[in-house]
Amino acid sequence: MRRLARVALLCLGCAVCSLLYGLSQLALSLEQEPGGGGGRERQAREPATAGARRQAGSAGRDAAGSGRCKNLSVSFWNSYWMLPSDVCGMNCFWEAAFRYDYMKTHPSEKMHLAVVACGERLEETVTMLRSAIIFSIKPLHFHIFAEDQLHESFKDILEEFPYEGRVNYTIYPITFPSESAAEWKKLFKPCASQRLFLPLILKNVDSLLYVDTDILFLRPVDDIWSFLGKFNSTQIAAMAPEHEEPRIGWYNRFARHPYYGVTGINSGVMLMNMTRIRRKYFKNDMTPVRLQWGEILMPLLKKYKLNITWGDQDLLNIMFFHNPESLYVFPCQWNYRPDHCIYGSNCKAAEEEGIFILHGNRGVYHDDKQPTFRAVYEAIKNYSFGDDLVHSMLQPLERELRKTTHTYCGRVYKVFIKQLTKSIRDLYARRSKGT
Ligand SMILES: *[C@@H]1O[C@H](CO)[C@@H](O)[C@H](O)[C@H]1NC(C)=O
Ligand SMILES: *[C@@H]1O[C@H](CO)[C@@H](O)[C@H](O)[C@H]1NC(C)=O
Ligand SMILES: *[C@@H]1O[C@H](CO)[C@@H](O)[C@H](O)[C@H]1NC(C)=O
Ligand SMILES: *[C@@H]1O[C@H](CO)[C@@H](O)[C@H](O)[C@H]1NC(C)=O
Ligand SMILES: *[C@@H]1O[C@H](CO)[C@@H](O)[C@H](O)[C@H]1NC(C)=O
Ligand SMILES: *[C@@H]1O[C@H](CO)[C@@H](O)[C@H](O)[C@H]1NC(C)=O
Repeated sequence: MRRLARVALLCLGCAVCSLLYGLSQLALSLEQEPGGGGGRERQAREPATAGARRQAGSAGRDAAGSGRCKNLSVSFWNSYWMLPSDVCGMNCFWEAAFRYDYMKTHPSEKMHLAVVACGERLEETVTMLRSAIIFSIKPLHFHIFAEDQLHESFKDILEEFPYEGRVNYTIYPITFPSESAAEWKKLFKPCASQRLFLPLILKNVDSLLYVDTDILFLRPVDDIWSFLGKFNSTQIAAMAPEHEEPRIGWYNRFARHPYYGVTGINSGVMLMNMTRIRRKYFKNDMTPVRLQWGEILMPLLKKYKLNITWGDQDLLNIMFFHNPESLYVFPCQWNYRPDHCIYGSNCKAAEEEGIFILHGNRGVYHDDKQPTFRAVYEAIKNYSFGDDLVHSMLQPLERELRKTTHTYCGRVYKVFIKQLTKSIRDLYARRSKGT
């Protein structure tokens, strides 16, 4: 009797298994139906492009599986069993695996943008990313380093962005070399020194544009990216000067450590060829031997800990003081800060051509001290993707800017919209040509 029960149990087990198998086959065949079959075949032959498939779907080229799949960008940190039910888990699983490979084998085909967001910086970071998406031409990959409690919010917001197959993103936790994590974290603002470690963390990325969260792009990221191609054989990174006017410069008046050039450099917009950074041996004032990036950071911090004020930016200044041939300096309109106008306009390049990248440091997007900066921030934050840029962004912005002419920065409010106007015109010209 007991044996019979065992046999029956075994049969039941087999039946359940075959039912499951049958259902999964059915699901697969459904996925392959109208238009889906081609997609699956292509995916098998050409795995590297699988990731683009769902995003490409929105461009209408390949609507494979659009009935069953959401048009989501899925970072490889989403484990496939945690995806929403209407995303094809199987595809995402392979996609994630292949995407990782793809980044290794095609390192420089797209532009990589990194940002480090901690504390209350979610909205500001998202506004920065929006400004990058609005104007950029080549595909972008965002590398977002954020405190754990912000990850979900970033995912939710980024999944709502209209990508048109142009943007991917990856969200990372904040990490430091374990033996010195505590020391790095307390240096400067929480997490800010993370950027020093980007060449060591993003080992498979060739080049990277790092920006602070309080950056706004007023022209395509492609344009600053193109500086990489202008590097001579010794240059590894590009930044803007900290000041144009030495009389109000900080480093030349107060620094108790070496700094680059006449007024130092600002690290809020930092373009890096990380392949070169990882290869270079840096001259330094600690040992007669040259040290690599990974070896130099901790000794540098130890030596200058008591003398630095602006944290990791000071360390970069010290590093490029000793290795000046490695830095490409771009003009102030690529990193335009309140310092460039609060005591009168001193960024000549911006007066001529307008501001290319706005950097609202010292919290000026969120208080009433510099209403010109705040107005630009709000114009981009208020804008809904897809609306007309002239009517929904440029015109309301100009109206707001005209109200600020009682301030020093407001007096030159035209430099805040000069390039923006041109970027919008160029964007619509590209669209009407259909490129
Ligand atoms: C995905 O893209 C296709 C093709 O443009 C579209 O028809 C479909 O509605 C989109 N699905 C979602 C969930 O957005
Ligand atoms: C996103 O990543 C996948 C896999 O690496 C790639 O195939 C796809 O082209 C990327 N999309 C964009 C817009 O870069
Ligand atoms: C730190 O600043 C003090 C005071 O200016 C100076 O004497 C000292 O040499 C500085 N230390 C380093 C490592 O530069
Ligand atoms: C970065 O430098 C490496 C080594 O010199 C070079 O092969 C690569 O093309 C450079 N990347 C870019 C984007 O210029
Ligand atoms: C590259 O440019 C920097 C800055 O202008 C300069 O100091 C360096 O000597 C140049 N390197 C070469 C190899 O010409
Ligand atoms: C943005 O929206 C807020 C609230 O709706 C409004 O007060 C502000 O004037 C807008 N700013 C711009 C520049 O459009």
